[in-house]
Amino acid sequence: MERTVVRVHTVGPADVLTLEREETPLPGPGEVQVRQTAIGLNFIDVYFRSGLYPTALPFIPGQESVGVVTAIGDGVALPIGARVASAGVPGAYATARVLPAERVVLVPDAIDDVTAAAIMLKGMTAEYLARRCHRIVQGEVVVVHAAAGGVGQLLCQWARHLGATVIGVVGRPEKAALASASGAHHVVVLSEQKLVDEVKRLTGGRGVDVVYDSVGKDTLAASLDSLKPRGLLVSFGQSSGMPEPLALSSLGGARSLFVTRPSMHAYVHSRAELEESSAALFDVVTRGVVKVSAPTTFALSAVADAHRALEQRKTTGSVVLLPG
Ligand SMILES: NC(=O)c1ccc[n+]([C@@H]2O[C@H](COP(=O)([O-])OP(=O)(O)OC[C@H]3O[C@@H](n4cnc5c(N)ncnc54)[C@H](OP(=O)(O)O)[C@@H]3O)[C@@H](O)[C@H]2O)c1
Repeated sequence: MERTVVRVHTVGPADVLTLEREETPLPGPGEVQVRQTAIGLNFIDVYFRSGLYPTALPFIPGQESVGVVTAIGDGVALPIGARVASAGVPGAYATARVLPAERVVLVPDAIDDVTAAAIMLKGMTAEYLARRCHRIVQGEVVVVHAAAGGVGQLLCQWARHLGATVIGVVGRPEKAALASASGAHHVVVLSEQKLVDEVKRLTGGRGVDVVYDSVGKDTLAASLDSLKPRGLLVSFGQSSGMPEPLALSSLGGARSLFVTRPSMHAYVHSRAELEESSAALFDVVTRGVVKVSAPTTFALSAVADAHRALEQRKTTGSVVLLPG
């Protein structure tokens, strides 16, 4: 079976994403071959494409996909035709691919392929951020940056469900309504307001328990200044660029802050963690506790346009590539 892939031969701007035709590999022992129906776009794909995260060249980008099993290798029990999803396995930008069977999960009937591709990586990220990296408890106040974005919308809803008061942060006023609709009790618009001032006002000067910061360079200092004494900064991304190195001494004294720098790969590492995280995600989505807004879709052949839209902050919610 022939397939179309997107390959990067040299890192750089979105134009380096190159469409190529080639034969689809066959599955080896413990592997499945999947005809893909939907591919999730994630900001990490931009980091690899641009060279911010170094990787061996050439490579097929993409970490998240959904599709139908077309062939299995020795030792695999999944039936041909099973609908499966994966997140965190590189090489997703392809019409068909081979994956380790232990890194895929069955998609429940109630969740369609495009929705599954919109939530697998971002939703399991929201899961571990809200329940395991820090376990949100009733009454906490949390800040969620990029609250109208892919991870942001899911994390705001999950944090609220767990009992937090959620302060969502967006770049521009057009995104504020979406952050509110995603569960943010309060929304801070950075083009018009200062995060630290708004947090002080909303918390009576106390500061928040946790800041979930995925923006990095532009926001990290304000995130730290928004925390209550002994509060936690979760720095889990850098859509605006890598933040300046943090001086340990700046965390100390009366502030006595905690900082963590988590990755989904560390929290959804074992097969048991993948099953537990995806099951928790599918549960909140099928029960309607976490609602998934219709993702923006692009044809796989228009992947460069999709990258530009994400980088230029033009998207809200998730972006899904359709292999066609
Ligand atoms: N550590 C992990 O396990 C993990 C897993 C998944 C994702 N992430 C991180 O989570 C973040 C969100 O990922 P996503 O795929 O859902 O993307 P996204 O949040 O939908 O898109 C990024 C958003 O970041 C905001 N942003 C602020 N400054 C920006 C700038 N200079 N350039 C571009 N965007 C800027 C924009 O929202 P506004 O316009 O509202 O500011 C933009 O829409 C990323 O940082 C990603 O790396 C981390």
